[in-house]
Amino acid sequence: MTQRQKIDQILNSTESRDVTVVKGWVRTRRDSKTFSFIEINDGSCLKNIQVIADNTLDNYEDVKKITTGSAVSITGQQVASKGKGQRWELVATAVDIVHLTPDDFPLQKKRHGDEYLRSVAHLRPRTNKYGAIFRIRSELSYAIHRFFKEKGFRYIHTPIITALDCEGAGEQFCVTTLPLDNLTLKDGKPDYLHDFFSKESSLTVSGQLNVEMFALSLGDVYTFGPTFRAENSNTSRHVAEFWMVEPEMAFCDLEGNMDLGEEMLQHLCNYILNNCKDDIELFARFVDKSLLTTLESVVTSPFVRLPYSEAIDILKKSNRNFEFEIVAGRDLQSEHERYLTEEHFKKPVIVYDYPKEIKAFYMRLNDDGKTVAAMDVLVPKIGEIIGGSQREERLPVLEQRISTTGLSRKNYWWYLDSRRFGSVPHSGFGLGFDRLLMLLTGVSNIRDVIPFPRTPNSIEF
Ligand code: 4AD
Ligand code: MG
Repeated sequence: MTQRQKIDQILNSTESRDVTVVKGWVRTRRDSKTFSFIEINDGSCLKNIQVIADNTLDNYEDVKKITTGSAVSITGQQVASKGKGQRWELVATAVDIVHLTPDDFPLQKKRHGDEYLRSVAHLRPRTNKYGAIFRIRSELSYAIHRFFKEKGFRYIHTPIITALDCEGAGEQFCVTTLPLDNLTLKDGKPDYLHDFFSKESSLTVSGQLNVEMFALSLGDVYTFGPTFRAENSNTSRHVAEFWMVEPEMAFCDLEGNMDLGEEMLQHLCNYILNNCKDDIELFARFVDKSLLTTLESVVTSPFVRLPYSEAIDILKKSNRNFEFEIVAGRDLQSEHERYLTEEHFKKPVIVYDYPKEIKAFYMRLNDDGKTVAAMDVLVPKIGEIIGGSQREERLPVLEQRISTTGLSRKNYWWYLDSRRFGSVPHSGFGLGFDRLLMLLTGVSNIRDVIPFPRTPNSIEF
């Protein structure tokens, strides 16, 4: 039996072949008097392969009934195409209909809107646009591991189920085996002693606290996995389940952290521009006409680095009617972030040294006693894409910060231990993987770069 060839292999091949087998899904079929054209896509690339099925085929009457979405296996000769836009086509010697799709297939020829396609998330990867998104998503994952491997970082698998709240923001999904329909309360709270872990536990919001322990032993490390947040914000940039890339470096200060964030974003954008050309072109033509200009602004020049206080000054002087007022000491809203990166600087901006009150307990307190060595990387169209910091390595300061932020020191005993035994300056950050995909594709809703997105009131698939 001849081995199946993927369409991307065929279209990139340099020689014709007498016998080729292609398996995939039919995009369109057009009939003429003596033959039919069948366009087939197998997901290996954006392009289809064109098949010519002659009316001399034994089952030609059945071939003429093939519908959009049907699965077929074609055996044929690979010949140079006379048509425009494709190098090779197949002249079929056999057309096997693997599965005939009925006429109510939801993805017919016409272009569908993103909102409709969300309601058929199980089928949308069969469209050109979503096929392209998920191929880029896969390439981007590979590029991340490759980037770190080349820089000597080790990949650490941090746990998904945790007993700590890394961000201290109380946005965790709890994990329990207690019978929710028959809970016994103890002092008004569920009796976690009888729960699976004998302790309150939840899905992780970040692998940072665990990965820090490995930075303080293996040096340069990273974790890359799913994280979960029960924040009830129905925005185009938030989901309840997202993937985060979290590098952590021993003997590294905030500046080194910024350097890595900048280098990594530029490297990943370049990688995708060079390795996913056809798919990126689709987005530049049909989704966001300014996509290539935006990506160019990311890869061509150094990012702006700006203390929070200066960012506030710029925003105040902008004379913009923001929905949220600019108040020194308050967190920046996405409209503020986007103004800075999209309009004022027109390139990525790293804002650093935020007021300690609006940042997490683990960030290193600066000498002014008021700000922490935090950094957020802001990019056009998205706003915050990276959040990170130099970590507080001084035990007494860290203990104090845990207490004043209302967390229980007792629960963080092992984290505090790392500051008692060989504590060193170290830094790291979290890059929102799904937001990076939005940047790379110009797709404006995060729900459309995730295979099966999880948002408030939505977990159908
Ligand atoms: O700024 P965040 O909350 O930082 C942390 O969790 C740190 N513990 C990371 C670290 O230092 N190791 O989140 C990091 C990034 C954000 O900049 C954003 O890109 C993304 O994660 N993010 C989300 N993406 C999608 N949906 C959400 N609900 C997100 N929340 C954060
Ligand atoms: Mg953040």
